[in-house]
Amino acid sequence: MALIKQNKKISENIFLMDVFYDGEIFPGQFFMLRAWDTDPLLPRPISVHDYHDGVVSFLYQVVGKGTRILSELQDGDDVSLVGPLGKGFPDVPGDIVLIGGGIGTAPLYYLLRDHKTNYPDSNVRVYLGFSDESYRVDQFSEFADDVILDIGGFITEKVTVNAGETVLACGPDIMLRAVSGVVPKENPLYLSLEARMACGLGVCLGCNIETPLGNRKVCKDGPVFSREELGL
Ligand SMILES: Cc1cc2nc3c(=O)[nH]c(=O)nc-3n(C[C@H](O)[C@H](O)[C@H](O)COP(=O)(O)OP(=O)(O)OC[C@H]3O[C@@H](n4cnc5c(N)ncnc54)[C@H](O)[C@@H]3O)c2cc1C
Ligand code: FES
Repeated sequence: MALIKQNKKISENIFLMDVFYDGEIFPGQFFMLRAWDTDPLLPRPISVHDYHDGVVSFLYQVVGKGTRILSELQDGDDVSLVGPLGKGFPDVPGDIVLIGGGIGTAPLYYLLRDHKTNYPDSNVRVYLGFSDESYRVDQFSEFADDVILDIGGFITEKVTVNAGETVLACGPDIMLRAVSGVVPKENPLYLSLEARMACGLGVCLGCNIETPLGNRKVCKDGPVFSREELGL
């Protein structure tokens, strides 16, 4: 069990939970969270939004029973964390472009902060798309060279990619498909996928996806995949 430092609402149905944690975490990895016994049956996968000074942060949207229970936890309560899980984003020494849609912006913040810490001279442009209310934009602006925001439209229509830039994206499937359409084939592209998960550990096959290279488990082989792996 891990101790919750703070759990607060930051926007409509959007919560930020800070939990004390000690260990190594790479951007794009996730944890399985649980704060209940048997109902719901399974823990819920949530990405690492940020990690520093012994505190891991989760930015999450309340969509059902599991996330509602998480949102009702109080500062000082315990939550079960299994992880960090998954392979996360690749380490890219050069200029990067981040594209996030809705709650898919969550894992991009730790990626941004980690990248700027390791490669302060690199350029990072961040595209954030929200259907209605935006959140955490100021935090992204603190570290990014440029933040392009879209509310209510299609963020992918604003995306430009220059030669040599690597693009990393997370969001709904439909947005990720649009991203693969606007990013030139010459630019490396990595997409963080979502799937319903049971174990999160690569044993239940519940998160299996078919790719041109064969079956892949989103929890263990991903959640981040290159466009080549996905055939996009
Ligand atoms: C690797 C990974 C990282 C994730 N990171 C985050 C994060 O940082 N923040 C966040 O808010 N959410 C994240 N999610 C999604 C989150 O796990 C689900 O929203 C959560 O499990 C829903 O649980 P629930 O009990 O509240 O809702 P349920 O009652 O289980 O579902 C409510 C609704 O949400 C849909 N849904 C549930 N889970 C998923 C899913 N995995 N993909 C698509 N639709 C789903 C259901 O079909 C249903 O319509 C992530 C998922 C994965 C696989
Ligand atoms: S969730 Fe069990 S194999 Fe991925």
